[in-house]
Amino acid sequence: MKAGDLRLDGRTAIVTGAARGIGKAIAHGLARAGANVVYADIDGEATGPATREIAGQPGCGQVLGMSCDITNRDDCARTVEEAVRLFGGLDILVNNAGKGPVHLERSPRTISLKFWESDPDVWRDIIATNVIGTFFMSRQATPFLIKAGARGRIINVTTSLATMQRKTNSPYGVSKVAIEAETLIWSKDLEGTGVTVNTILPGGATNTDFLSNMGRIHAQTSGRIVLEPEIIVPPVLWLASDLAAHVTGRRFVGKAWDDTLPLAEAGQKACEAPVIREAAER
Ligand SMILES: NC(=O)c1ccc[n+]([C@@H]2O[C@H](COP(=O)([O-])OP(=O)(O)OC[C@H]3O[C@@H](n4cnc5c(N)ncnc54)[C@H](O)[C@@H]3O)[C@@H](O)[C@H]2O)c1
Repeated sequence: MKAGDLRLDGRTAIVTGAARGIGKAIAHGLARAGANVVYADIDGEATGPATREIAGQPGCGQVLGMSCDITNRDDCARTVEEAVRLFGGLDILVNNAGKGPVHLERSPRTISLKFWESDPDVWRDIIATNVIGTFFMSRQATPFLIKAGARGRIINVTTSLATMQRKTNSPYGVSKVAIEAETLIWSKDLEGTGVTVNTILPGGATNTDFLSNMGRIHAQTSGRIVLEPEIIVPPVLWLASDLAAHVTGRRFVGKAWDDTLPLAEAGQKACEAPVIREAAER
């Protein structure tokens, strides 16, 4: 069986930042597996065309586009309430919405800025979106995920280790390390509830609006392959399924997923060492 054959019929998912890019690929993947999916995005208008790409396809769950700014607690509450009201519960939250390098650069033709040159308001906005927005959505969703018990999932999208420490890449790198800590700590907070919390990343520069033109040119001229957003979907489907019910506090790389392997082995192969080393409690 391949990850794409897994079924999630009757489950409900919210994917943030699902109007385009990686979020849209994840939302489409979950919907194709039969889950009911809320496509939540600050660009509410763009969720319409995104959901229309898939609505009504055979085997798909129901899809709903919603305008939601994850930095706004009322928006997060409304999105979770609407998912529960329409679909009867909530099983899966994918925290994908994020802001990054393209927001830091002065223009698509300039290089990224050193930390003391970057705009403090932009710096704050990136942390507010990536770190605090992920917390706001998770805080709102978790009581319902706990009700879902062993079906409950939080899946946080982060990035490659090299990106987290690349020069001129704060606050993006900082924000993604923080999400890794959120994953580890929350997975421990949720021990005994059945809800798992994991991190997922594509494993390289991915072909979305997120990459600035400079980043795309750099990736191409340096010979690095630019990945397609769908590369992240198989490990997400596996993590959302019953097969990964006991997998928590881990980090998975889309590019390392091998669809020719049995699913458990593919999961093992795609699992990368944690960014933050486990330490004994003092
Ligand atoms: N593209 C890459 O190379 C790459 C690599 C590694 C990780 N990622 C991560 O993948 C995730 C998705 O990125 P992408 O490449 O698809 O980017 P993208 O820019 O194509 O999509 C991001 C989406 O998030 C939405 N968004 C932004 N702020 C929001 C907010 N406050 N509330 C709700 N929605 C908001 C945007 O409207 C957009 O639709 C991000 O977390 C990013 O850090 C991307």
